[in-house]
Amino acid sequence: MINVEKYFMPDLKKARKRLTKETETILYELNPKYADLGKGKTYHILTYGCQGNNADSEVMAGIFEQLGFKFIEDETKADVVLLNTCAIRENAENRIWGVLGNLKAPKRVNPEMIVGICGCMPQEEKVVDRLLNKYKEIDLVFGTHNIHKLPEFLYEIYRHHDKVVEVLSVEGSIVEKLPKQRASSHKAWVNIMYGCDEFCTYCIVPYTRGKERSRSKEDIIAEVSCLVKNGYKEITLLGQNVNAYGKDLESDYTFGDLLVDLDKTGIERIRYTTSHPKDLDDKTIMAMANCKSVMPQLHLPVQSGDDTVLKRMNRKYTFEEYMEKITKLKKYIPGISISTDIIVAFPGETEEQFQNTLKLVDEVMYEGAFTFIYSPREGTPAATYPNPLTEAEKHDRLNRLNEKINAGYLKGHERFLGQTVKVLVDGVSKNNPDLLTGYSEHNKVVNFIPKNALPGDIVNVRITEAKTWFMNGEQVD
Ligand code: 5AD
Ligand code: SF4
Repeated sequence: MINVEKYFMPDLKKARKRLTKETETILYELNPKYADLGKGKTYHILTYGCQGNNADSEVMAGIFEQLGFKFIEDETKADVVLLNTCAIRENAENRIWGVLGNLKAPKRVNPEMIVGICGCMPQEEKVVDRLLNKYKEIDLVFGTHNIHKLPEFLYEIYRHHDKVVEVLSVEGSIVEKLPKQRASSHKAWVNIMYGCDEFCTYCIVPYTRGKERSRSKEDIIAEVSCLVKNGYKEITLLGQNVNAYGKDLESDYTFGDLLVDLDKTGIERIRYTTSHPKDLDDKTIMAMANCKSVMPQLHLPVQSGDDTVLKRMNRKYTFEEYMEKITKLKKYIPGISISTDIIVAFPGETEEQFQNTLKLVDEVMYEGAFTFIYSPREGTPAATYPNPLTEAEKHDRLNRLNEKINAGYLKGHERFLGQTVKVLVDGVSKNNPDLLTGYSEHNKVVNFIPKNALPGDIVNVRITEAKTWFMNGEQVD
């Protein structure tokens, strides 16, 4: 039997509490006693899930570098390997269990290797129980609320040669002054808020990531100004529901105001994700329309096109209200490219209700979507709802939906044929070393024959071919 008393174990029931309005801000500072912890050692981070996890991994990489660790490409050779995990659907979790299994062999070869798991999965009781009972090679388990304590965790493991398990089921704080090792030198994630208070009935995120809490506008603007100074061209503002930005702060400053202020920093491109349709307000739409740097593209998750399903999902808007916002977006931002998230086979969804989702897809004319079969998440309300559909029926709905969505992707590319678009260059195309690749203002992948472009440049490209997943073109200047 494992003695769990020395560990901080997760508690999903505690995690759903929302009791405090105030948010503590912690200023990260490295304790000098940890400064040489990584000297001569290597690290690797495997990241799964949303952009929030990618941003967290950049922070953890920053901490590793600060401790003197060096990045190593081959995770099986690393002195420390961390899995930053996602709990959003069962298949995301299954994949991660597989990766953990694959790390057993390298750990046998090098017992000194530290294997750690963090992110959303350890916030679930059943995950940590399984980790402790079946994955003895795991040395470190922590969650989403204590990334900044990574130096302390590593120090404890090296000193005591014992496991560290510290998962906090709390509402959460904000940690500033964290180091970051950004993956790109021209595009950056910028967290503007953390957590989620929406409690959509299918979703685990409000339990794994704590309450909605906004960073101060001063800290965000300072971070973006610093990125501009360092040559960054594009930022993506991150939060589970960025449209709720500022609601927890003591002022009436909202997301629309933030867009206007960030536009003034001189950053060339601003994107944001993710939005909640209920909180997308006129001020934001007008900021998108008026600020040159805010890109004509929006990811606006709808989840379902049926009012009864939306209600049972606790989404707090109707088909009609969603369509009103879409109409406004298209009116004020002509040519805007809209994408979405859709869940099919939510418990109790009838064929007719699914048809309403297909109808909505036709009406909005999405140019992209992430589509999912509903996956029950233990501890969330919808996990207890009966779901009589067979696996074949669920897959059939997903396939019918994807057919429409894929046609939307293609149309979204075809409308640019013959036009010249601005592309922020990422680098050489994976499939053809003669081509460069990057993203257009409307967030379309563009592969093109270059003239003199370098990664980080914004160049004009004439579109010559439209495919489902990308466009081809040639640089014109
Ligand atoms: N099952 C399927 N999809 C889900 N999502 C969130 N929770 C679930 C779930 N339990 C989807 C939603 C959300 C996206 C990030 O993941 O569409 O917008
Ligand atoms: Fe999950 Fe809904 Fe919050 Fe998005 S808004 S993270 S779907 S609870």
